[in-house]
Amino acid sequence: RAAALPGSHRIRGAASLTRWPPRGMPAPVDLSAALASFGDTWSPRVVARRNDYEVRVVKLDGELVWHRHDDTDELFLVLDGELTIQLRDGDVVLGPLDVYVVPRGVEHCPRAGAAVSAMLFEPKGTVNTGDAGGARTADLTELDDLN
Ligand code: NI
Repeated sequence: RAAALPGSHRIRGAASLTRWPPRGMPAPVDLSAALASFGDTWSPRVVARRNDYEVRVVKLDGELVWHRHDDTDELFLVLDGELTIQLRDGDVVLGPLDVYVVPRGVEHCPRAGAAVSAMLFEPKGTVNTGDAGGARTADLTELDDLN
């Protein structure tokens, strides 16, 4: 039978395992559980790593700050709610399951209504406020152990 894990995922073929994951193997991450595990906004949590990239989830509320990332494009995948990416040339409005990439060097300022969550794909070490810094700059936080 499948190993018991939070969320809807199951590990098949693991009946003989008393511990999952085996050493060195990542466990699946249920994004609903991940998002339910924290409430603070503008404070991304790392849910997965891929090569030198981090997959982060974040809750957003209100406006961040105008900034740019000179060294990396920034990918937003909206999971819930409506997220506006303000650009100097106009706004891009994203809904659930919309994806948008802000190219490197392009100034942007995310603005969110209530209850917006998004996934970000960024190189390790990317700062949420880019070149701007300031009070909204978040320390990157690991996801709490959901198990
Ligand atoms: Ni940014």
